[in-house]
Amino acid sequence: MGEADRRGARARGDGRSERSARGHVFPRRGGEAGAAPRGLRPVTSPPLLSVRDLAVSFATAEGTSVKALDGVSFDVPQGKTVGLVGESGCGKTVTALSILRLLPTPSARIDRGAIVFQGEDLLTLPERAMRQVRGGKIGMVFQEPLTALTPVYSVGAQIMEAIRLHERMSRKEARARALALLHRVGFPRPDERFDSYPHELSGGMRQRVLLAMALAAPPRLLVADEPTSALDMALRAQIMALLADQARELGMSLLVITHDLPFVAEIAHELVVLYAGKVVETGPPSRVLASPRHPYTQALVRSVPPAGSFRTRGEKRKALPTLEGSLPDPRRSPGGCAFAPRCPEVMDRCREEAPPLFEAEGGRDVVRCFLQGGAA
Ligand SMILES: Nc1ncnc2c1ncn2[C@@H]1O[C@H](COP(=O)(O)OP(=O)(O)OP(=O)(O)O)[C@@H](O)[C@H]1O
Ligand code: SF4
Ligand SMILES: [Mg+2]
Repeated sequence: MGEADRRGARARGDGRSERSARGHVFPRRGGEAGAAPRGLRPVTSPPLLSVRDLAVSFATAEGTSVKALDGVSFDVPQGKTVGLVGESGCGKTVTALSILRLLPTPSARIDRGAIVFQGEDLLTLPERAMRQVRGGKIGMVFQEPLTALTPVYSVGAQIMEAIRLHERMSRKEARARALALLHRVGFPRPDERFDSYPHELSGGMRQRVLLAMALAAPPRLLVADEPTSALDMALRAQIMALLADQARELGMSLLVITHDLPFVAEIAHELVVLYAGKVVETGPPSRVLASPRHPYTQALVRSVPPAGSFRTRGEKRKALPTLEGSLPDPRRSPGGCAFAPRCPEVMDRCREEAPPLFEAEGGRDVVRCFLQGGAA
């Protein structure tokens, strides 16, 4: 490698690991940009999932409708993990429910867009075919494991049922498979937990059981909506790591939806930042955390505790900068940039005109901000 190439590699951050501005170290992952020599593009397979220009609205009691998603586009590549992040109400769950075609009816309406999975637009599939996709090729893990599990059946019975739903086998075989799955998700002595009821398990254990059910027939894509938000800090990291390990072992793609920017950044190849129903920035976690480009992403990153800053008992919490204000009311869309009322960099133009997505990092990432387009 010549000196010029070495300089290029440094500029692109091609080392074995990178340190973000907050001190978090990110291992280099296969999916990140920058490995191809200049002028050549790596050969890539088509994404497993491609969400294109998705717009969803909800009917209100007053007979009007509010936009929940407005032109959301992103890809989940084969075998990679994508983290969908943003504050409460920005449209993360609506995105997940749209992919699974589980939006509440009749209030929700898909206004436009496509959700292409393995080359097929899920939005045009008959419901029967969609039922086979759900829980088959696409699995899901939701936020509150207690509501997702049936209280009157043992966890073993529920995992067995999930297995037998996808594959014909005897009860004995299904039990052996269920025990193996419990072991896989971190129960070292699964037979001791097989007959437990959900209420007898901790939150972290219940989340593991749900993951075991989702892996009963390993899906191509696992959608995990806030898989860790009901858990304490130590368990969050564990469950995220478990998700990532399983995805790697089984060659699954993962779409992880979360408020937990630092945790998802540890496992994701790509981050998609949503704000008020629109994508405002995409990029690999190392770049997004080290040099966020959109003022909203910058605020999100500033609110992440620096690495090693977890308090010891009795230590006073250091205040982190928080983002003032809240998401705009979706019933009133005054035009312009949705982030303008909270943006420290707002310009006159931002209040009148909605910014489009601009390319960044040589076209690899996108940012929805006029500052990125060079307009001041
Ligand atoms: N059933 C519904 N009826 C009406 N509006 C809804 C419904 N579900 C979601 N919305 C609206 O859609 C928008 C996006 O909601 P969504 O649940 O996707 O947010 P979220 O990003 O998942 O938030 P959280 O982090 O709190 O889970 C919000 O404005 C919300 O009020
Ligand atoms: S377009 Fe304007 S208001 Fe919106 S994020 Fe950029 S600078 Fe801020
Ligand atoms: Mg949600």
